Amino acid sequence: MYEQVAHSLLNKILDRLQPDIQKQDLRHFYTRLGANFYAIHSLFSHLYGNRSDFEQQVVRLVETMASRYIERDEELRRIDKAREEDHNWFLSQEIVGMALYADGFAGDLQGVSSRVNYLQELGINMLHVMPVLKCPEKASDGGYAVSDFRDIDPRFGTLEDIRTLSQKLRRREMLLTLDVVVNHTSDQHEWAMRARAGEQTYQDYYYVFDNRDVPDMFEETLPEIFPETSPGNFTYDPQMQKWAMTVFNSYQWDLNYSNPAVFIEMVDVLLFWANRGADILRLDAVAFLWKKVGTICQNEREAHLILQLFKDCCQVTAPGVLFIAEAIVAPVEIIKYFGEDAVIAKECEIAYNATFMALLWDAIATKNAKLLDQGIRNLPDKLDRATWLNYIRCHDDIGLGFDDVDIVAAGYNPKQHRDFLVNYFTGVYADSPARGQPFGRNEKTGDARISGSLASLIGLEAAIESGDEARIQASVNKILLLHSMIMSFGGIPLIYYGDEIGTLNDRSFLEDEAKAIDSRWMHRPKTDWAKAERRRQHGSVEQRIFDGVQRMIAVRKSIPEFADFNNRELLETGNPHLFVFMRHAPMLGNGRVLVVGNFDSAPQSLALEDLGNRGNFEYSQLRDLYSGEAPRMFKSQLVVPPYHFYWLSDARA
Ligand code: GLC
Repeated sequence: MYEQVAHSLLNKILDRLQPDIQKQDLRHFYTRLGANFYAIHSLFSHLYGNRSDFEQQVVRLVETMASRYIERDEELRRIDKAREEDHNWFLSQEIVGMALYADGFAGDLQGVSSRVNYLQELGINMLHVMPVLKCPEKASDGGYAVSDFRDIDPRFGTLEDIRTLSQKLRRREMLLTLDVVVNHTSDQHEWAMRARAGEQTYQDYYYVFDNRDVPDMFEETLPEIFPETSPGNFTYDPQMQKWAMTVFNSYQWDLNYSNPAVFIEMVDVLLFWANRGADILRLDAVAFLWKKVGTICQNEREAHLILQLFKDCCQVTAPGVLFIAEAIVAPVEIIKYFGEDAVIAKECEIAYNATFMALLWDAIATKNAKLLDQGIRNLPDKLDRATWLNYIRCHDDIGLGFDDVDIVAAGYNPKQHRDFLVNYFTGVYADSPARGQPFGRNEKTGDARISGSLASLIGLEAAIESGDEARIQASVNKILLLHSMIMSFGGIPLIYYGDEIGTLNDRSFLEDEAKAIDSRWMHRPKTDWAKAERRRQHGSVEQRIFDGVQRMIAVRKSIPEFADFNNRELLETGNPHLFVFMRHAPMLGNGRVLVVGNFDSAPQSLALEDLGNRGNFEYSQLRDLYSGEAPRMFKSQLVVPPYHFYWLSDARA
């Protein structure tokens, strides 16, 4: 949009840019800057307009974007242009991701490069390498306590290794996702050290207080994220003799985004990684970016404005790069991280579907889809040009973040139901096969979350110990059922490393003092490559899971109905054990795929005629696209074996 105030400022800024920037050919940069400058200017002035150095700060911001544009290599600029033309590229059903720790998966970044074949064998074409930046060895929070935003920790490798990996992936048409921890730094970061040494400039990078007055005000409404290991939200630093805000661990200092210098530094960091070949940047803990006394300091309007501003700036320099919002918050709040707009994502194009994840675990524990169905019905429609990241497990705990209203509608009492789920997954009930551990138990509120690997939570560990083949097979089926859901729901499925071979809990973290207090380490395994090798051994657990997931990925990629265009319709079935939805392909005329999942341990039936006439879907001649066979029928009823799923197409397809 053209607007005089912003435009005349832009003219002034362009005249003031450093001579070496002015000399460059910045044609595409200027076009994009012109297109986005009105938005950038209004957001930036909303956040920082009352400062006397406002104009100077805008100049610095534009210089940052321009310098990173100049640095961006030709190949990446070409990709930017291609993605501008094909702007729906990331909604395709052909993308399937995996998240992994470089050291856990393969020792280091070179190890990851050497194992790309394995990922390709499974069908993965988007790789999220968990944080590899410099961080203290012990107080690392699994890499989320960064002490240098622009360098790789020697434990993982070098910047050169990232370059090699990103080039290797690009040659194979695979996408690279990297983290940017935007909310906080390690207390060992240079900014924190300089703050500690008394430099005001760097104390202003954080929320630093002389005494407890303001911290106490904040504490009245702030929840605790890690109540067991890091109670409270402020940490006293004896050298600085001040309190720093530390919402996560006591060694993670929250950045102060009311200071434009922090914002500009972070834009530079985002663009730095965009220029190192990241196709997608995962923005960590985005809900927490803005702090306000009297609130829970999550989901504040300014946090959204900061994300919009990040997006607008990134679009000027590296428009092909997407953002993932890691906002593990209430269902109605998560969706807002796409940015509130009619069509396009103004903040992050992709968001973790934490609601769906937690609901899937609910269905496993209850053996029915009542709450799953209810919760998904109430999930607001996402924007057209935005997509979910659908996952079963990740490196974090499982938080039961669904809505109380939905729990009640499904016929449960919220407190009792959440307690039941935590007890079920942490082995409190003798008849539960799950082997999880509680995480983040808060004695004051009674809340708790759940740690554990997919296989151990689902019952595979207990089944293997029992030696009972029927139980083992049931666990394998449940693992495949959950994968079938994230593959067909709409969005990018993100498999967590190790789950493709049924990796059990890893209890070795208990021997390491720095890790023992954080049960999330039980599901951050070292890949056992001998175990992975058993994927080739017919009948092994590894083979059954790996082949199942591999086949699912291949089939998913061939089903255009599974692309994500808000083309999912939940169907009423009258059978609470089944989760049933139809996927359409609006661009392909009549294309439809009926997805059915049975969460019960007994076979269930579905009266197809009750589903109604769904665009003349031919219920009498169904074929399961996953198995290639006709599904089981009894008269006109579809029979769904225990923990089984179907991806049904009618015979015309
Ligand atoms: C994110 C990460 C989590 C980390 C937290 C603090 O939620 O996923 O692992 O502990 O941020 O950085």
